[in-house]
Amino acid sequence: MAATKKALVKTPLPGPKSQELAKLKEAYVSKAVSIAAPVYIEKAAGSVFYDVDGNQFIDMACGIGVNNLGNCNREVVRAIKDQSGKYLHLCFMVTPYEPYVRLAEKLAKIAPRPYLTKSAFFNSGAEAVENAVKVARHYTKKTAVFSFQHSFHGRTQMGMALTAKEQPYKAGFGPLPETYKVDFAYCYRCPLNLKYPSCSLACANKIDEIFSSQQFAGKVACLVGEPIAGEGGFIVPPDDFYPKVSQICKKHNALLVMDEIQTGAGRTGKMWCTEHWPSMDFDMMTTAKGIGGGMVISGLTGRAEIMDETQPGGIGGTFGGHPSACAAAIVQLDIIQKNLEKVEKINKYMTMRLKKMQKKYPIIGDVRGKGAMMAIELVKDPSSKEPNVDDTKIVKDYAFKNGMILLSCGTYSNVVRMHASIMIPKSILIEAMDILEAGLEATVKK
Ligand SMILES: Cc1ncc(COP(=O)(O)O)c(C=O)c1O
Repeated sequence: MAATKKALVKTPLPGPKSQELAKLKEAYVSKAVSIAAPVYIEKAAGSVFYDVDGNQFIDMACGIGVNNLGNCNREVVRAIKDQSGKYLHLCFMVTPYEPYVRLAEKLAKIAPRPYLTKSAFFNSGAEAVENAVKVARHYTKKTAVFSFQHSFHGRTQMGMALTAKEQPYKAGFGPLPETYKVDFAYCYRCPLNLKYPSCSLACANKIDEIFSSQQFAGKVACLVGEPIAGEGGFIVPPDDFYPKVSQICKKHNALLVMDEIQTGAGRTGKMWCTEHWPSMDFDMMTTAKGIGGGMVISGLTGRAEIMDETQPGGIGGTFGGHPSACAAAIVQLDIIQKNLEKVEKINKYMTMRLKKMQKKYPIIGDVRGKGAMMAIELVKDPSSKEPNVDDTKIVKDYAFKNGMILLSCGTYSNVVRMHASIMIPKSILIEAMDILEAGLEATVKK
């Protein structure tokens, strides 16, 4: 029996009820909070959204890489309900509670390196990043903080400073804390105009040069890096990039902080993306998004001697490690662990379809990603590689109008990114790829 379609648009979009609610947004919500798909959702289950006007959408955004098990996983919801009935808020810094220490134990057990044993919890990803930098500076007694070009680390002061993209994330919000950028291995657009592997990772070697320079020698507290640059365009560095970067950090006694906020919690087919590169070492890892199953939580996990060095009270917060969020995260991580093998199948199917589309539509300059974190970079012409922002918008809008929530990203705003749930049924994934392909066709017919 043929599967029933999940993408079902019955009204012009946004529908009348969504339009009514949009009036409230217009009147009472800051315009600075932007919206990708202006339909108000009434209910969500698995990989499908149901809006207030009776339209259905396939969810390929996952709340920006959060709902890795899909929406409203039953066991996660049950854990939240059970915990919420016992106590809602205590503040771990006032009277501790079991879900917090159990989640910390769980993270130590599933950490990508056995020596990452101690955690602290916060609310947003940006907050975890802020605390990583605080801890790194305190521990090393050094001040210089580095991140990569094309990176995104959040919207707080330090998060913005570490983030690369000016618009819309940083413009007009300065002065920001002093931080420094080094090149990321964006091989499709090599910053040094070289070719991998004959480049011998010149971009990583440059980091060594910079850390050795008169300005920075002995002064680098940490380098913060995303395993795969998420907002920057799902840029996957070559397998030997981070192992080399980690050696350079070690040489300079600079801590390496891996920001697994978007790539973690099973998103790339391993629990943590850094597991793809077992020979690299690092010191701390930031987590958020997918660990909470939709609940508000972030974490900083690191080597015990680093995590214990800061004075008591130096990190923490009123709501950090909320009991219901911890309870959700424990269950969420358990279920992800048991379902990691599904991600490879998703990756195989998506890669096959996206590569086929690339042959048919030359605007697809690059197909890349790992696991269920896949993207296509659109260009005006494959030889000039000029970013194709207009067609990226056409594809995204087509998807929306035809019942699929899709996001774009990228330093040049020309990357269509897909965050499928790792539990997405094959029939929905096929439908999602069909809609994407029709969206690409729409760019030809425009
Ligand atoms: C890699 C990375 N770090 C940090 C953040 C910030 O997380 P939050 O939006 O929860 O503050 C994000 C969010 O997209 C992210 O992708």
